[in-house]
Amino acid sequence: QDWKKMIRQLLLSFLLIQTTLVAARGRGRRHPAVVPPPAKKWLTLNGGEPVVVARGGFSGIAPESSLPAYSTAQQTSLASTILLCDLQLTKDAQGFCQSSLNLQNATTIATAFPDLKPRTYNINGKNVEGFYGVDFLADDLLKNVFLVQSIYSRSPGMDGSYPLLTPYDVVGMQGPPPVLWMNVECCNFVLQYPSFYDGLKLSSSAFIIDTMRDLNPAYISSPEIGFLKGLVGKVNPAKLIFKIPDINEVEPTTKKTYVTLLSDINMIKTFASGIILPKESIWPVDSGRLLLPATSSVSDFHKAGVEVYASGFANDDYLSYNYSYDPTKEYLQFIDNSQFSVDGVITDFPATASESIACLAQNKNAPKIVKALIISDDGASGDYPGSTDLAYQKAIDDGTEIIDCSVQLSKDGTAFCLPSADLIGTTTAASLFMDRSTRIPEIQDKNGIFSFDLTWTEIQSLKPQLASVFDGPLARNPANKNAGKFVTLNEFLDLAKKRAVTGVLINIENAAYLASNKGLDIVGAVTTALSNATLDKQSTQKVLIQSDDSSVLSKFQDIKTYQRVLAIDKDISGSTQETAQEVKKYADAVKVFRNSIVLDYPNPVFMSLNYSNLVEVMHAANISVYVGILRNEFQNFLFDYYADPYVELATLTQKGVDGIVTDYPATANAYMRSPCSNPNANLPYTILPINPGDMFNNLVTAKPPEAAPAVPLLQNADVDDPALPPVAKISAPPPASPSESGSNSLPAPAPKKSRSTKTASNTGLMVAAMVAVLTILSYNSKVY
Ligand SMILES: *[C@@H]1O[C@H](CO)[C@@H](O)[C@H](O)[C@H]1NC(C)=O
Ligand SMILES: *[C@@H]1O[C@H](CO)[C@@H](O)[C@H](O)[C@H]1NC(C)=O
Ligand SMILES: *[C@@H]1O[C@H](CO)[C@@H](O)[C@H](O)[C@H]1NC(C)=O
Ligand SMILES: *[C@@H]1O[C@H](CO)[C@@H](O)[C@H](O)[C@H]1NC(C)=O
Ligand SMILES: *[C@@H]1O[C@H](CO)[C@@H](O)[C@H](O)[C@H]1NC(C)=O
Repeated sequence: QDWKKMIRQLLLSFLLIQTTLVAARGRGRRHPAVVPPPAKKWLTLNGGEPVVVARGGFSGIAPESSLPAYSTAQQTSLASTILLCDLQLTKDAQGFCQSSLNLQNATTIATAFPDLKPRTYNINGKNVEGFYGVDFLADDLLKNVFLVQSIYSRSPGMDGSYPLLTPYDVVGMQGPPPVLWMNVECCNFVLQYPSFYDGLKLSSSAFIIDTMRDLNPAYISSPEIGFLKGLVGKVNPAKLIFKIPDINEVEPTTKKTYVTLLSDINMIKTFASGIILPKESIWPVDSGRLLLPATSSVSDFHKAGVEVYASGFANDDYLSYNYSYDPTKEYLQFIDNSQFSVDGVITDFPATASESIACLAQNKNAPKIVKALIISDDGASGDYPGSTDLAYQKAIDDGTEIIDCSVQLSKDGTAFCLPSADLIGTTTAASLFMDRSTRIPEIQDKNGIFSFDLTWTEIQSLKPQLASVFDGPLARNPANKNAGKFVTLNEFLDLAKKRAVTGVLINIENAAYLASNKGLDIVGAVTTALSNATLDKQSTQKVLIQSDDSSVLSKFQDIKTYQRVLAIDKDISGSTQETAQEVKKYADAVKVFRNSIVLDYPNPVFMSLNYSNLVEVMHAANISVYVGILRNEFQNFLFDYYADPYVELATLTQKGVDGIVTDYPATANAYMRSPCSNPNANLPYTILPINPGDMFNNLVTAKPPEAAPAVPLLQNADVDDPALPPVAKISAPPPASPSESGSNSLPAPAPKKSRSTKTASNTGLMVAAMVAVLTILSYNSKVY
């Protein structure tokens, strides 16, 4: 038997070489011997820091309970992170780690044994066909079966390469010995089939007891009271933990529902020193996905001296709207509220839990330590309809330094802020003014109802509308769908002065079209408003003028305090020095998409490829680089970022960008105030940037045929624009009617400008390919 173990260890350490590379250079991790930061006080049962429990390792990025999952968890998370193994037994009573009894979706078992027919078992009252570990000998399973990703929002790139692991493999991994948590759930299932494998229930506890000395788990949990009672006194010093899978399920030993059992804490104390509660039993969420007040469960159990672990955390879950899709906010709700802290969190993304505990908890009033500017994208447009009073107020409250207004004009010349000239999507115009819909190829391909075709009075009869970048369950908070009021440019500038923000960004689009086709002078409107607000004669507040049209920027070159920002509204893979000098003729800064700084593989890999040279080249020409739009929704991220907005922020800011443009300024602000954003601070935990290319090169085994990235460099032609046409004199334009629409019979047509692609092209590459996937995240209601 020993030689078998040795060969297995060899095989696993070979695999480990690949997987450690990515993790060690990847992101957050610990320094072994450093000065501990000032101790925080926690409302946990023992007053200590809550622990992170990695369910099947870092199962958010690699197949659950695989070697890369466990080793990445070890290396990206707090040193105290506990590795959870869901124990399953083989026919010959050997243990392996895997949460689903049915191995069909999570492994290659069906193809490994093509002659075998699936078997049907009754699982919790349902007949489920599949392949079950108890039907196989350990040798067959461990040698022939490989793990695959069963949650389809996660990368399939590691499928079919990593074998099932035994708990011995987990504790035997390279590096400091991990703390192990064994969760045992098979008993319930096997109890129904006593004749099938006589005594397997006994074998589960026998396995635990027999392996105590070697595996030394610190925690043993089970949803079954009989199983836990059988271990009392036999597994010291491991803690026995009672797991509540779903409060409405029936506990197999007592045949009572868990919700009934929960009221008898003294009974629970006779066999368990802690309890696992689904997170919703602590902070319930209503049907509108809003967070309700906390239940008393944590306090009740703490009063009785019982520890509480909250389960079900995953960055790629559909979080309550109260968290604004920031997964750290959810952890903080459980560990950093004024009433209690849970004693641990059980999660698929242990790095994010680690940074919440070590970097973000109890850190609200810390000073900003990252230099990059926080620039809003139409205010806090992740939470409220873009460019409304509420979006701007929240942006300022959330720490935005530069609030932004994309200026639009009404037909009668009122300048106001709105994400786009097209009112469809950003307002309720579609329900009232569909007859004004036209197609203007100079502006966008699809039909629109444009602000410059409606009077200000007509526009004020509309309501703003929260536009969702992602569909389905990732749509933004429906409770705020039509919240807030439109804001004129004058009101916007007033607000900026009143709230003394660091600065304003004024974005100007479609200037040439408006001048020649509508007789509207948007440049003049902005100039007048800024001067009326005396922002042209001061240098206390920054004024950024942004446009995708360099001719517009030229109009502002005489006011030296203004910073001119050229928006590059297309994907580029970098720039030459020469083109940077061309940019410098018009602008002091560029605003680029995220994938112009961190290049990525073509779809459908969704992983990073390399950094571009953009930041270096622009900085060499003394041009600042702003990047956006950053968003929190998990679909918005390359897999390298672990569905964690903080990892992307670390990557972009440590690459040297001068500002980030975001729908969720609160998240950027929290990152920039965290001590862990300083890579040189030598703290126990640091939020590290990704190393582009590492995940693909080191973890991905199922590599798709490589297509060379076809994205070009920035060209001079992208920078140079024709001079703005004069503002046409249009006398009393007749009200637009559908029959006229689209016929550009007006004066000299505007030169064709790069179209406004603001909400179209940079929404994150993952959208299309992952729409199909949205329904799959059913792992929360565990599959047994
Ligand atoms: C396996 O995947 C299929 C198809 O997505 C799904 O219907 C089934 O519930 C899954 N079974 C398990 C055990 O996860
Ligand atoms: C969640 O958000 C809603 C709406 O803003 C608010 O009413 C509620 O109090 C919040 N819940 C918690 C627990 O803070
Ligand atoms: C100048 O600003 C004030 C207050 O911000 C506003 O009421 C007024 O209409 C503005 N005038 C012009 C010409 O924009
Ligand atoms: C990454 O970019 C750098 C500099 O921009 C270049 O030297 C290097 O070859 C690139 N690596 C890959 C794998 O493309
Ligand atoms: C860089 O540009 C800024 C204005 O954006 C200017 O104040 C500064 O002097 C420039 N520095 C160099 C070295 O050219």
